[in-house]
Amino acid sequence: MSDKIKVLLLATNQWRVAHMRLTNELRLIREKIQISRYKNSFDLLWQPGARITDIGERLIEDNPDIIYFSGHGTASEGIILEDDSDNRKAMNVDQLTAVLRNLKQNLRLVIFNVCYSKHFAEALSQEVDYAIGMDETIDDEAAGTFAASFFYTLASGKSVNEAFQVASGSSGSAAPTLVVRERVNISEPFLFSKQDLERLKSTIKRLLEGKASDEDLAMLRQQIDEGSTFLDEIEETDPTGEGDQQKLAVEFHNHRLQVRLPSSEHKRALAQLFPAPPGIGPPFSLMPFIGREHALKDIKSLLKPEGSADRRKVIVVRGWPGVGKTTLVGRLGRDTDVIKMFPDGVLWNHLEQKPNLLSEMARWGQALGTDEILRAPTIKEATSQLAVLLRHRHMLLIVDDVWETAHATPFTQVIGEHCALLVTTRITSVANELITDEQGIYVLPVLTEDDALRLLGILAPAVVDQNQDECRELIRDLECLPLALHVAGSLLRSEARFEWGVRNLIEEIREGAKVIEEQAPIDRIEEDKIPTVSALLDKSTDILDEFTRDCFAYLGAFAPKPATFDLVAMQAVWEVDDARSIVRKLVGHGLLEPIGSGRFQMHRILVDHARSLCED
Ligand SMILES: Nc1ncnc2c1ncn2[C@@H]1O[C@H](COP(=O)(O)OP(=O)(O)OP(=O)(O)O)[C@@H](O)[C@H]1O
Ligand SMILES: [Mg+2]
Repeated sequence: MSDKIKVLLLATNQWRVAHMRLTNELRLIREKIQISRYKNSFDLLWQPGARITDIGERLIEDNPDIIYFSGHGTASEGIILEDDSDNRKAMNVDQLTAVLRNLKQNLRLVIFNVCYSKHFAEALSQEVDYAIGMDETIDDEAAGTFAASFFYTLASGKSVNEAFQVASGSSGSAAPTLVVRERVNISEPFLFSKQDLERLKSTIKRLLEGKASDEDLAMLRQQIDEGSTFLDEIEETDPTGEGDQQKLAVEFHNHRLQVRLPSSEHKRALAQLFPAPPGIGPPFSLMPFIGREHALKDIKSLLKPEGSADRRKVIVVRGWPGVGKTTLVGRLGRDTDVIKMFPDGVLWNHLEQKPNLLSEMARWGQALGTDEILRAPTIKEATSQLAVLLRHRHMLLIVDDVWETAHATPFTQVIGEHCALLVTTRITSVANELITDEQGIYVLPVLTEDDALRLLGILAPAVVDQNQDECRELIRDLECLPLALHVAGSLLRSEARFEWGVRNLIEEIREGAKVIEEQAPIDRIEEDKIPTVSALLDKSTDILDEFTRDCFAYLGAFAPKPATFDLVAMQAVWEVDDARSIVRKLVGHGLLEPIGSGRFQMHRILVDHARSLCED
């Protein structure tokens, strides 16, 4: 899967309607691929005004894997394209077969979404692995539905046969026919052919031998992040480590490529792919990491190499509980660009609500080669010692999960000339107190709907495939929060095993309360226990005074959907003449977010939490 699957879409300009149809089909296909699991694996190329000669040229130049014909065909003439003078020109089966036979290169699938094209598909049975044609006429709407549903299923990691079955069922007309070349395994996912498995195997072998190229590494990182490849750690079968490479197991399982590696090799692979920086690197997991390309880029550009005008000393990443702040800085801490910017490495810590600042500073001191800070009598003393140690070092300092400005302040005083400090917090007032200028605060947004659906698709693939519309409603209701999506995904995956359908469960999750009662995802482990989502949210509300907490709880109880309010509405709920001081506190604690025009938003997960507080 190193190269993208190239899809060449061809149609005539001859009739405005045919041209419009291709434009519409292209839009539908593009939209569907965008929300599919493997959106990055497809490249769409299109050629309106197609002539027969174009097909050969584009086969040579673009080397497509798939050709898709849209437009008109007649029972007597064949498929209608154009000649060199833009006149209507019918292409017959023999002409097409001859071109494809000689120039097909990577071509594996040809789709004729054209009336009376079944015999074209049949004629290609010796030329390509798969061909699809229509036995009758096909109207525009059915053609669009067929195309959209076919490409979505294919781009979700399914076989051509499955995509064909799903698309035939949804378009409901035109009697499509799938022709499969002899000896082709129809259940093989199109995206992951045997060659892909072999290619992945050899890339992993190169990785384990320390011979992976930058391109290999970038490809594997992308596949792991998008969830298409999973490196599974298995028990060591051969403690000497010899011979493991021969046993390297790669298979297509659970809609993704699964590479099973004994622990020692797993560690080696991880160290090559996401090398831990010198110092104390942030914790890291190989879980999928979706939709944060912009965030990574934006923060890296704030951290720019030294000497750049906008280089910042302190950056704060703030956002809703569970939006992915820790995960993001975890990736940044192992990012190759970041490591280049800070060659002496990273110092990371996770403060939580009651940190022992002295011991955190001592840990950093130890990583820098001294136990002296352990003996520092005061934080002030520890701060100055650490500042000396960092004065000439090029390091990125990460202070994760800050609850009080005073906890982070000492770390702002140790930043050496060539260092930068990255802080994460849920608390808006902490961010504002640490940084006066807005540009240094990065508000991490929830995922986009497409990314959220993709994440849910990785977590519960079968459920999302079979309940597309319901799942989209669900992610909208969960307001695309990674924490909530993980919990919902895991509930859905477990329920799917019973095979009695998941619609009731989806409804229950949408109605509320379900997610917050559940355990948080496994990477949120704290003191050897996985807390419930409620417990994670309690942290934000337990620190409120009783009156403000009650106000928060009532606001949740009266929240519309989506939960946005203006001052007047909040005054009415709280029965106060002036709600501003309460609003200030809730905003300061990251429990309400101003969204402009005098309105404020409460994230859905906080609404559920507020409601549960009312019930206590
Ligand atoms: N981009 C992402 N793609 C997939 N999963 C993600 C992503 N970001 C976060 N997650 C998952 O969502 C959950 C919450 O993420 P994380 O702990 O980073 O949130 P947080 O903002 O640090 O939360 P808190 O406010 O509690 O500190 C984790 O299980 C994490 O693996
Ligand atoms: Mg966190």
